[in-house]
Amino acid sequence: METDARPRASMDEIVALAKRRGFIFQSSEIYGGIGGFYDYGPLGTILKRNVKDAWWRENVELRDDVVAFDSSIVMHPLVWKASGHVDAFHDRLVDCKICKHRFRFDHLKNAEQCPDCGSKGSLTQPRNFNLMLQTHVGPMEDSASVAYLRPETAQGIFVNFKNVYQSARKRPPFGIAQIGKSFRNEITPGNFTYRLREFEQAELEYFVPDDGNDLATFETWVERRKQWYADYGVKPDRLRFYELSQEERPHYAKAGVDVEYLFPWGWGELESIAHRGTYDLDAHMALSGKDLRFFDEGSKTHYTPLLIESSAGVDRTALTMLIDAYEIDRSVDPNGKDTERLVLRFHPRIAPVQAAVFSLARNKPELVERARSIESALRRRFRTQYDEGNIGQLYRRQDEIGTPCCITVDFDTLEDGTVTVRDRDSMHQERVGAGGLEALLHERFA
Ligand code: GAP
Repeated sequence: METDARPRASMDEIVALAKRRGFIFQSSEIYGGIGGFYDYGPLGTILKRNVKDAWWRENVELRDDVVAFDSSIVMHPLVWKASGHVDAFHDRLVDCKICKHRFRFDHLKNAEQCPDCGSKGSLTQPRNFNLMLQTHVGPMEDSASVAYLRPETAQGIFVNFKNVYQSARKRPPFGIAQIGKSFRNEITPGNFTYRLREFEQAELEYFVPDDGNDLATFETWVERRKQWYADYGVKPDRLRFYELSQEERPHYAKAGVDVEYLFPWGWGELESIAHRGTYDLDAHMALSGKDLRFFDEGSKTHYTPLLIESSAGVDRTALTMLIDAYEIDRSVDPNGKDTERLVLRFHPRIAPVQAAVFSLARNKPELVERARSIESALRRRFRTQYDEGNIGQLYRRQDEIGTPCCITVDFDTLEDGTVTVRDRDSMHQERVGAGGLEALLHERFA
C-alpha cells in the first residue's frame, strides 16, 4: 500500500477538526463569541492536561532540585508596580478618527493612512495601552480597590522566594515551578488559541548562585527543553531555538533563547528561556523593603541568587501538538482505489485516547459484554474508550482524534480469546490474545 503524507494543514482545517471532534470551541459561541477566549472540549481538555502532565513530570517530579508552587491570580497591586508591569507592560495604540478602529502603532505600515478605511491623516497620536486586565477587590469600585489579573505566573514565585526556600529547605541551585492561568488584554488576539487574553503558562524559575556557572546552567536548561520537545515527537524541522541578541534582550538579561514553532502562518514563540540576573528579586526587595536574599548557613553570608527562567505557553504547546500531529494520508487500497484519511499522529502520552475497544456488532450482547469488560480492565492503566458499529467508521473516528491503538472484539474472540489490534500509523493489524493486551500497550507506549 503506497502512502503519501501531506505535510501541512491550513488553520481552517485545524479549527474545523478541533470543533468537530471536541478539542476546542469558541468561548460563549451562542452569543457570538468573545475575542481571545476559548473553551476546551472533552478531548481538548485531556490533550491540554497531558501537555501539562508531561511538562510537570519532566520539570518537577523527576527532579529533586525543583519544587512545586501555586500562587493566587490576584495579588497585591504593588507586585505589578515592582515588576514593571504597571509602568511598562503596554502596547502603543492609535485610533482612526473616521472608522473608530484601533491599531497597534508598531504594526502600521504607513502611519499616515488608516489601514482599514484608507482615510489619510485620520490616525491619532500613539498612546500607551496597558495590557493587564483589571478588576476591583472588595465592595468599592474606586482607584484604591483596583487589582490586576496576573499577566504571568512568575511574580507569585518571586515574592514567595524566601517562604519557599526556607520551608522546602532548598539552597541554590534549585527551582520553583508553577502551571497556571495568566491574563493579558491583547490588542490583537488571534490565530486561534495562539494569542489569547486568558491562557495558561508553565513557568520554571531556577535560582543559581553567582559562582561563574550561571551561563552553563542556562545552556543546560535550553538543552533540556530541546530534549522535551523531541521526546514528545514535535517535528525537528518545524522547531527552532532563536538566540536573542543583546539588543533584543531586556537590559538586565544576560542571555535569552526563544523556542519557536513553524505554524501555518509562520514562526511563532512557544516559550522563552531567559537569564534574568538578580533583576526580579532586587525589584521586590527595593519596593517591599523586605530582604529576599538567600542566607548561606555555611559561609554565614546573604546573597541574591541569579535567575534562569523557562516560561512556556500551555495553550500554544497544545495547539502545536495538534498542528504537528495533523496529517492526511493518501493511499491506494488493495483494489487499486485512491483513499484518503485524516490522522492525528499524537505521541501516545499526549493522545487523549490511547486505546479504543470495539465490539464488531451492536446487537450481539455477548460481543458487547466482552468488549466492555476488556475496555474496563484496560481503563485502569490507559486512557480508553469503548465504541461499537461499522468498523471502517470507527477507525476513521479514532484516526481523527489520534488514538494510537484500536482493539476489535469479534466472533473469533468468543471462540479463541484473541482480538484484532490495529496500529494507527501503519494501519497494520495483528491478532493477539486478549490477556496480553496490557503488556502490549505498555510496550508500545513506553
Ligand atoms: N514570565 C515570562 C513571561 O511571561 P512571555 O514571553 O511574555 O514571558 C511566556 O510569555 C510564554 O507564555 C510565551 O512564550 C507564550 O507561549 C505564552 N503566552 C504569552 N502571551 C500569550 C498569549 N497572549 N496567549 C497565549 N499564550 C501566551
